[in-house]
Formats: sequence, C-alpha cells, structure tokens
Amino acid sequence: MIRRMVTNSMPQFPAGFLWGVSTSAHQIEGAADAREPSVWDVFTAEPGRVKDGSTAAVACDSYHRYPEDVALLAGLGVDAYRFSVSWPRVDSPGGLDFYDGLVDALCAAGVRPVVTLFHWDLPVALDWLERDTASRFADHVSVVAERLGDRVAKWITLNEPAEHTLLGHALGVHAPGRRLMFDALPVAHHQLLAHGLAVRALRAAGTGDIGIANSHGPTWAASEKPEDRQAAEFYDLLLNRLFSDPLLIGRYPEGIGELMPGDVEADLKVIAEPIDWYGINYYAPTRVGAPQGAEIEFGGLSLPAELPFTVREIEDRPVTDFGWPVVPEALTELLTGFAERYGDRLPPVLITENGCSYEGVDDQERIAYLDGHIRALHRAVEAGVDVRGYFVWSLLDNFEWAEGYARRFGLVHTDFETLERTPKASYAWLRDLLRAQR
Ligand code: FCB
Repeated sequence: MIRRMVTNSMPQFPAGFLWGVSTSAHQIEGAADAREPSVWDVFTAEPGRVKDGSTAAVACDSYHRYPEDVALLAGLGVDAYRFSVSWPRVDSPGGLDFYDGLVDALCAAGVRPVVTLFHWDLPVALDWLERDTASRFADHVSVVAERLGDRVAKWITLNEPAEHTLLGHALGVHAPGRRLMFDALPVAHHQLLAHGLAVRALRAAGTGDIGIANSHGPTWAASEKPEDRQAAEFYDLLLNRLFSDPLLIGRYPEGIGELMPGDVEADLKVIAEPIDWYGINYYAPTRVGAPQGAEIEFGGLSLPAELPFTVREIEDRPVTDFGWPVVPEALTELLTGFAERYGDRLPPVLITENGCSYEGVDDQERIAYLDGHIRALHRAVEAGVDVRGYFVWSLLDNFEWAEGYARRFGLVHTDFETLERTPKASYAWLRDLLRAQR
C-alpha cells in the first residue's frame, strides 16, 4: 500500500491555542424517545429524504454512552469539546439534566465545554420563516445559559445559518425540506436576528465568550470571462458575505437588504451586536461559473438549472469519499482574505469545524487532510491572522444528515450495529500532535 507519510514536524502554534473536536446533538445523541421531535425527525421519516433510509433515532447513542465519549476526548488530549444542545430536548422534561451531566463529566475530565445553541434540529412547532422564532430562540438560550452558564467555556449561537437556509429551505435537501429558492432569504435574516438576540440573552445571563459557527470557503471563478466572474461573485455574496457582512460590519451586501423582511436597519443593529470571536467551518473552496441551463450534480447535491450560477469541478485535486476537493491552501486564502476584508472589525477567529469523510480505520487520507489543513492554518497565523483555535469535525462517525450513515467523518469509528467505538489511526496521530504542541 502506498502511504503518504507525514514526516515534517508540525510548526508550533501560539501558547493558549485551543485544540478541540466537534459534534452535534442530532447527529450523535440518539434517544429520540427522550425528547420532543425536531424538524429532522419529521424529515427523515419521509421516504427518499435520507439516502440510506436511516434515521438518527439511535445514531451513536451518545445520550447513554457519553461517559465513554468523554473518556475518548480525554484520551485524545483535546482542550475543548464542541457539542450542541438539542432545543427539543431542552424543552422536554429532564432534558437539561442530560447536558448538566455531560458538562460536569467534561469539566471533571479537564475538557472545556463549548456549546452550540442551535445546530439545525428545530422543534417541529417552529419555523424560521416566522420572525417570532428569533425571540423564541433567545428564550431557549436564556434557559440553557441559566443552567449551564457557570461551567461553559464558550458559546456558539448558531451553526451554519447559510447551509440551513440553502439546503433546508432553498433547495429542500435538508430538513425542513422546503424548495423556496430565493424566497428562502427571510430564513437567513431571522437566523441572523436570532443570533443577535441570543448574544444579548447570553450577556444578560452573565455569561460571555460568545461566537457563531459560519461556513465559509473561497469562491473561485471558473474562468476570467466576465460571465464566470459575475456568477462567482454572486455565489460568494450569497454563501459568504450575506452572513459575515451583517455580523461584522452591520450591513447586508448591496441589493440584499431590500429583499429582507421587517425593519432591516433596526434588525442590523441587533445582528451586529459585538461578539468575542468569529467561528469558521471550512471544508473546501468552490469553483463557480455562469449558468449552463441544466441540473448539475455536485457533492451529493442536485442543483436546479434555474440558479444564476453553476458549481464546477475543481480538477487535479484529490477528493474525499464525499467528493469534496482537498485544497488545504484555500484555508490560508480564506483567512487572509477575511482579515483583509474586515480589518479590525474581525474579532479573533476559531476554526469551529474542519474535516473529511473517508472509509476505514487506518485512515491515512484523513491524517494527510488534517496535516495539510493545520499547516495551512499556521501559515495564516504567520501572516498575522489572529486565529485562536481549531476543532476537527468530528469526534466520531455519526449521522451525516441526508447522507445517513454513509459518510464517515470521525477520528473514532462507530459500528452502528453494536455502537462500539474504535479509535482510528487519525485519533492517535492527532493525540501525538497535541502532545508535541504542549
Ligand atoms: C457541516 C455541518 C456538520 C457536518 C459537517 C460535515 O456543514 O455543520 O454538522 O455535517 O458539515
């Protein structure tokens, strides 16, 4: 077997740099019978929505097996664990007891809890098309902060509002399965508003160290032709700047504010409420060109023909099992681009997700992916970007949304029959890397 050996030692990151791994409630907890349903339970019950027909009713059963997961985190030697609280579980009797126990177990193991307050599993009675969902979210945040605030190290208001808008409400390939195309824009606005209200609710509860986890990636034009450049710019605006501009400079990119509901100017003041750090989930760049008038398949998605752009293949690059291109240097490009665009409006950055899906327990490709991306991150630090932490997606193989259990992102293998956890080669590699960093 040909192996890409990782031989050069990793450069040293600044003291206090936070190393962690990430998961989310719906993807790992299971114990669906011990909580109210979310839009994801409804969605997965509909035939054809999830590729392998699976649901997350059991998933990794982390609800019952969390002591084992905490032991895995301690063995890995991470500083922090990013997990999400399930809003429907928090709303269920005794639901917060589970998170209380998890947070205690993490603290006892010396792992700092980093809590995401919304990672896509919306209670079924709620809808992001409704403005009121933003204030309901702030209420949920207050309840969680009240109970866990004395031990949580960092808060993440929302996970990837861009993907939740695009995949869940514009294209309909994630829950709640709506295909509204551009009529999904209010979903983005209401989530951003919810973020701002949540920041205020967290501060009112006496907690701090607040950020968000937004997905970002460089957009590369398919060619220098004006129609390709324009299409790429539009894509970049929709998936990147639509979310970072309002948060960091308090305004929507040109032409977007008019499309948003409510008193947008007043809302933007809430949305731009100062945060302590900015979280970026990075996986890959996107090459974008002018529309070609035909539906295209991309990274497991069927993109409709009526979009004003097409996503093109990035050639000459290895791809993960998910078909996502592996381009570590695009992470450096992304971070230096952010620092340039936002200047002193950009707070310290944390990479809140980065990872890849590959089969197998001897996962040398994952090691190569992580090695390349951590080095690319270090180059951004050297270039002066204030990056304070890095979280791998994910601790363990889990329910990968519409892909079901077919995509394995874990440092730890999960046997979905027996629920046995087996650390992969990448787990040992990361453990050694973290030891060498200290
Ligand atoms: C991100 C999601 C996360 C996981 C990874 C692979 O978009 O935030 O839940 O599915 O992709």
